[in-house]
Amino acid sequence: MLEKVERIADMICRAGRPVVFTGAGVSTESGIPDFRSPGGVWDRFDPSEFTFRNFVESAEGRRKYWELGREVYPVIRKAEPNAAHFAIAELHRLGRLDCVITQNIDNLHQRAGLPAEKVIELHGNATRARCLRCGRRYTRDEIHECLEQGVDIPLCGPPCGGIIKPNTILFGEAMPEEETREAERRARQCDVFIVVGSSLVVYPAALMPLYAKEAGAALVIVNLSDTPHDAYADVLLPGRAGALMERIVERVRQRLA
Ligand code: APR
Repeated sequence: MLEKVERIADMICRAGRPVVFTGAGVSTESGIPDFRSPGGVWDRFDPSEFTFRNFVESAEGRRKYWELGREVYPVIRKAEPNAAHFAIAELHRLGRLDCVITQNIDNLHQRAGLPAEKVIELHGNATRARCLRCGRRYTRDEIHECLEQGVDIPLCGPPCGGIIKPNTILFGEAMPEEETREAERRARQCDVFIVVGSSLVVYPAALMPLYAKEAGAALVIVNLSDTPHDAYADVLLPGRAGALMERIVERVRQRLA
């Protein structure tokens, strides 16, 4: 393992444009469950009930979504960035990070110190919401307060009364165009692409490592379990993101000193 940590640190130091790509596995050590590990969110809830179509077309679909949201949002709000988030933010401070492309909606990369413009959020951000009719913006705290007061399905204030939806991408919802285009551009121009904590099974996000590989970048996968893209990786580093990213960045810092 030490040899692989050394190799990855060397790749980061030599790279012109290192990109880090994260999934829910980078936040489990902050107390936020991921989706597909045993006991993850999709072990306890049926993903087919949380589609964009269900949300916009049925009140029952929205009620179920907000029921899940009522459980998950306090966990996200209480979570603190962990060693992996801080290590990735330090790469930026060391001048060794082009950007982070994340599937996460928990805002923890930003709270670990990464400037917002360095974080491309493919699946949106759970701390914000908006009315689908008039576009009025809400904070998730405002919405959560409604839910706590017993509102089942939050609606936009008068005179609108439209459907409010968090700024997160549901299954079947169109991906954010600008973020997706920019993520592909950055993946295709990077020279090292480091996946941290993702099962790489959800598309189009899971295309990003392949775009990087196609463009000639080195692919590194730091993950607790196997992924379908492991065969394309130049370095596979199985294990926990916090400890591994901390060691990698420590070696980068020592090499740059
Ligand atoms: N360190 C390293 N890897 C970890 C850790 C950890 N501490 N904890 C979990 N993992 C790994 C798991 O083994 C798993 O392979 O992280 C991966 C998380 O995979 P998923 O739960 O599938 O999360 P993600 O890849 O982000 O899912 C993508 O699916 O449901 C949608 O929109 C949701 O953005 C999400 C998308």
